[in-house]
Amino acid sequence: MLLEVDHLEVEFATGQGPLHAVRGVSFEIAEGEVLGVVGESGSGKSVTAHSILRLLPGNGAIVGGDIRYRGGSVLQYSPAALRSFRGPKVSIIFQEPGRSFDPIYTVGKALEETLRAHNPEMPETEVRERSIQLLRETHVPYAEQRLHNYPHQFSGGLLQRIMIALALASDPDVLIADEPTTALDVTIQAQIIELLLELKEKRNLAIIFITHNLALISEIADRILVMYGGLAMEYGAAGEVLAHPRHPYTRALLASILILGEHYSKETLHTVSGGTPDPRRPEPGCPFAPRCPLARAACRETVPALVADGTYHRCILAGEKPEDLYARD
Ligand SMILES: Nc1ncnc2c1ncn2[C@@H]1O[C@H](COP(=O)(O)OP(=O)(O)O)[C@@H](O)[C@H]1O
Ligand code: SF4
Ligand SMILES: [Mg+2]
Repeated sequence: MLLEVDHLEVEFATGQGPLHAVRGVSFEIAEGEVLGVVGESGSGKSVTAHSILRLLPGNGAIVGGDIRYRGGSVLQYSPAALRSFRGPKVSIIFQEPGRSFDPIYTVGKALEETLRAHNPEMPETEVRERSIQLLRETHVPYAEQRLHNYPHQFSGGLLQRIMIALALASDPDVLIADEPTTALDVTIQAQIIELLLELKEKRNLAIIFITHNLALISEIADRILVMYGGLAMEYGAAGEVLAHPRHPYTRALLASILILGEHYSKETLHTVSGGTPDPRRPEPGCPFAPRCPLARAACRETVPALVADGTYHRCILAGEKPEDLYARD
């Protein structure tokens, strides 16, 4: 397997005590496969992504589980091994564009830096050719001229393409895109998704696409991981998760994007109501219980186990027919 995240646990030290941001999350990704990671803000998506590259802030630590790249534990890598892992093996587009760009550098300079970081001996002409090639591959028009422009001279959509070009400059096997399109309008978002699909095909690139928008990844994902309160709530083949969601949270996310009442009873959850959990004071049981229309007393006692039945899902009602549970009128 290309990349495996195996019962990952991440904690942050905070003034109010430890915060358990990722609570035993597992998934895997094969070459050329797209994994969609979906969940509301604060569910642990970015922390999971940063953990893969061991890029947690100083107060964060991986306290359990393992991350394996082609069978070897990334957690055991030496500093040198880590340097040749970050970029050439797994590359990330951060949620904050400021982490990809320095406003005082032209796009050409940014590409040159990344190319040289991994190939210090690369001749000047090749750096230029490769930079132009990367911009063309990501469909940035007038690639040659645009090398001389600064980040603020690009539209959001073009900047996004350049961020992808930068992430590809190290020729990775896996691209992690952390909510890359959130600030863009719907048409531009769709174009970025199209570009990612094209790169997946052309480069056999594996992609981890993180988003809070389940609709967005339904077009692109081979597998979907639904996170909530630091837990994997549902995980499985995209077709299965989208067509037959087993978990009430996945159903709620889907209901919020589907046409009124098409798939659900009159008690549809058109938006997922209620607030997300406070990870400093996690519920003893299922973190979704305060918002779940099917919650019962037992849900609040212990965190339900992940059950494999069509998909992996974490709910005490696993195994019961969802249609029966939702049809109440
Ligand atoms: N440096 C940090 N210190 C303390 N808590 C953090 C830090 N970074 C993230 N967290 C917490 O970890 C949880 C998961 O965050 P994150 O992975 O960023 O969520 P998201 O799913 O929105 O990407 C949140 O509760 C967040 O507040
Ligand atoms: S365990 Fe209970 S609260 Fe949690 S999703 Fe299942 S039914 Fe809802
Ligand atoms: Mg995030």
